[in-house]
Amino acid sequence: MAQHVIALDQGTTSTRAIVFDARGAIVASAQREHEQIFPRAGWVEHDPTEIWARTRDVLETALSEAGIAAADVAAVGVTNQRETVVVWDRRTGEPVHNAIVWQDTRTQPAIDRIIAEHGVDAFAAQTGLPVASYFSASKVAWILDHVDGARARAEAGELLFGTPDAWVVWNLTGGPDGGIHVTDVTNASRTLLMDLRTLDWADELLDVWRIPRAMLPEIRSSAEVVGEVREPSVLQGVPIAGILGDQQAATFGQTAFDAGESKNTYGTGNFLLVSTGTEIVRSRAGLITTVAYRIGDEPTHYALEGSIAVTGSLVQWLRDNLGIISESEEIGPLAASVSDNGGAYFVPAFSGLFAPYWRPDARGALLGLTRYVTKAHIARAALESTAFQTRDVIEAVVADAGRALDELRVDGGMTRNEVLMQFQADILGIPVVRPKVVETTALGAAYAAGLAVGLWKDREELRSHWQEDVRFEPQMDATEAARRYRQWKKAVGKSIDWVDE
Ligand code: G3P
Repeated sequence: MAQHVIALDQGTTSTRAIVFDARGAIVASAQREHEQIFPRAGWVEHDPTEIWARTRDVLETALSEAGIAAADVAAVGVTNQRETVVVWDRRTGEPVHNAIVWQDTRTQPAIDRIIAEHGVDAFAAQTGLPVASYFSASKVAWILDHVDGARARAEAGELLFGTPDAWVVWNLTGGPDGGIHVTDVTNASRTLLMDLRTLDWADELLDVWRIPRAMLPEIRSSAEVVGEVREPSVLQGVPIAGILGDQQAATFGQTAFDAGESKNTYGTGNFLLVSTGTEIVRSRAGLITTVAYRIGDEPTHYALEGSIAVTGSLVQWLRDNLGIISESEEIGPLAASVSDNGGAYFVPAFSGLFAPYWRPDARGALLGLTRYVTKAHIARAALESTAFQTRDVIEAVVADAGRALDELRVDGGMTRNEVLMQFQADILGIPVVRPKVVETTALGAAYAAGLAVGLWKDREELRSHWQEDVRFEPQMDATEAARRYRQWKKAVGKSIDWVDE
């Protein structure tokens, strides 16, 4: 049998392909960024055609860098930014609008109307989610309402909707020429349209959002063969055997398979997932309930999630909008050039605040400024905001579980930043553990695909691949950590109730 798996990670800021070998080690990778389009305040879009071009490109490049051919690849696994909405014409493959990205808040007025009529938690028992602009439903409805003729075409079955996994899988499997229109249970669980128990689209929710069933993808498990690659031709015939939303993929890649196991991913945003096994658990503390994974027709696994909208993207913002650094990597040394934040606290509520607050009316705030504060303090405050927001969601996890976490397993690009990781351990008062492979998102998609085609026997075999790299132990005095966290909470209080409508 072929001894490699390729994972495609279609993320918020870039698309990556990583080739893994049968031990789960990285053999080669390729990555391309795509444009972030901000047409108005609060709007965030991507060009789906550019995303598909990047997808083909990174797959071809990674394969050639690895020096292997399609015959050496046992399966392709796909993982993706979740909730982001693409609507396209099934005959031409043309998107009818740019993708509306998960961070986009344009649908808040529609969300307010639905909340006024039904209540913010009206669909929480069924979907695990509060009514919020973060999830896909209101974004699909917006396209149907704002693109000329879109609703009629969708009702006639001419338009298809998908999160980025569905968009790339449809194109990989032939596009207008017989492309397969599927998503997986983890991605479907982020739309506000799927029932967590039946794992099917819920008609009553489709009615609420006025979304025709004809445009929805078929919901499949996270690890099963859904079709074969036709494009790019270098991968022709390779089965696509795994699909997971990126945060669920990272959880799978960290082998956090069972109840109580967790991970925190530091990407564009931060996403903490705690497995609840096969049980659907409702949070009382502001977390959402989501599907963690489903392998073939085995029982579905669920998780509680603390989603934070802005962490790594704040570093990009400092680079692109303020210009206080010219490369993202400069943030670490700049922050490390001062010993503390100089009294500055940065609440990056650019898309409102997600978990555990769910306050769309919050906006970014930089507080505690004096003449003493330099750009190094601001860089440090920006990094610290990631750690403070993580503590916010961990407080919610602890409140729900009724017990403290023993340690926090972390992954994602920002975990290479040692200043941040040490501060994270200090603010949490528990060890922060980084594995050898921090690209766990791609690894999780590869694992799911490899399991489906029999490259790996079972989850126990995958667990044996996991290796610890560094353990950051808390060093800060607990009273000092508590004082700083109190200041942070005060700053959050000031950022809330800002939007004046
Ligand atoms: O829910 C949004 C999340 O899936 C985005 O992840 O890594 O692309 O920022 P990432």
